[in-house]
Amino acid sequence: MINDNNMILKLETINFTLDSTMDANLKPLALYVHVPFCKAKCTYCDFYSIIGREDSIPVYLKRIVEEIERSRETLDLSGHYIDTVFFGGGTPNLLPPAQLEKILDRVLKLTSPGNAMEIGMEINPGEASLENLISYKALGINRISIGMQSFQPHLLKFMSRIHTADKSISTYRDVREAGFENVSGDLIFAVPGQTRTDWNSDLKQLVDLQPEHISTYSLTVEAGTALHRWVDAGHIKMLEDTVDTGMYDWGRNFLEEQGYPNYEISNHAKPGFECRHNLNYWRGAEYLGFGPAAHSYFNKRRHWNIRNLDQYLEQVGETGRGGHAAEIIDLSMEKNEMILTRLRLAQGLNLVEYGERFKENLLESKQEVLQKWARSLSVIDNHLVIGPEGWALTDEISSDLMS
Ligand SMILES: C[S@@+](CC[C@H](N)C(=O)[O-])C[C@H]1O[C@@H](n2cnc3c(N)ncnc32)[C@H](O)[C@@H]1O
Ligand code: SF4
Repeated sequence: MINDNNMILKLETINFTLDSTMDANLKPLALYVHVPFCKAKCTYCDFYSIIGREDSIPVYLKRIVEEIERSRETLDLSGHYIDTVFFGGGTPNLLPPAQLEKILDRVLKLTSPGNAMEIGMEINPGEASLENLISYKALGINRISIGMQSFQPHLLKFMSRIHTADKSISTYRDVREAGFENVSGDLIFAVPGQTRTDWNSDLKQLVDLQPEHISTYSLTVEAGTALHRWVDAGHIKMLEDTVDTGMYDWGRNFLEEQGYPNYEISNHAKPGFECRHNLNYWRGAEYLGFGPAAHSYFNKRRHWNIRNLDQYLEQVGETGRGGHAAEIIDLSMEKNEMILTRLRLAQGLNLVEYGERFKENLLESKQEVLQKWARSLSVIDNHLVIGPEGWALTDEISSDLMS
């Protein structure tokens, strides 16, 4: 392993300190709101999302507000401040501003002061009008993530996206016109039928738009999706791993050259524009999720909401709770989770923090594993870091280090 104090990517541009009027002992809390409605189901998507149910939005709003209220009454949040709020989906832009405001207003009242550093939402190209975007901004939303996925018509078609490349561009322009200064674009690569040239062109087109943040996801075949059925039946062949890795590496280098270093495996940002909400997850902050299929992690306990809109609506109506299952996170789970999440970050795993929390010197206790992966790992400034050549192996390395 090499030691190089100059190489560490420091997320120093992100200020995780509180404003001076706040109690320094308060802990950050990330809030997630799941909006499960979509206009069409994409072939690869296994996020909980349903089509043709927009008529249920009014009752969904009523129930989600009840769920938030119930949390406010039952959880002791006095030791926390809300750091980030994220509206994810599904398709959050299917909630017009007045409806989204009802939820935002309630979640921000979970703690006092009711404010957040980052309030983000996902939008689908072509589905949010300029007028609505201006209103979202006026509500306090300050980060927009646009699911562009690709600029190539044949790939958008394969993924059964209902938007065109032109819509991605016009939506991006509208987002800017509405005044958003923190904008992200999502792209998917390693899509069957995609060439290196397609991928290079997608990245170049997105960089030309100059968003602050870019997420690049390798297409994964998730159980229960149309893509899974096609692959299973042999109708579709996914790209070879080497092609996938080649696209990833090219993309990472290209984005770095263009001023978007990757701070997490799939995420690249201009310095200072890393997604604060996701960093909260990856750094082990507590979070509360509302809406069907949302997850929470609070007080060493993780729980999952019901992944079915009707059942969610019924249960919240009866009990105020959306939970379906829960588990207590013991020390060994906490340890594994820390390894898994931190090694995804370019900043790596803080060995001092790990040692203090678990009373274990990882460099000693996992000597053999570290030796096995010596070509991919470095210790930089007391952080265990996976170097660029090992990023494609992150899952294997993490799983070897976990106990
Ligand atoms: C939860 S989706 C919702 C965002 C929004 N509804 C949309 O479709 O743009 C968030 C992002 O996850 C990524 N994603 C979802 N499923 C994926 C898969 N199977 N493989 C790779 N990326 C995926 C897409 O890039 C998408 O923009
Ligand atoms: S990818 Fe987005 S738009 Fe497509 S089904 Fe999933 S959540 Fe809905």
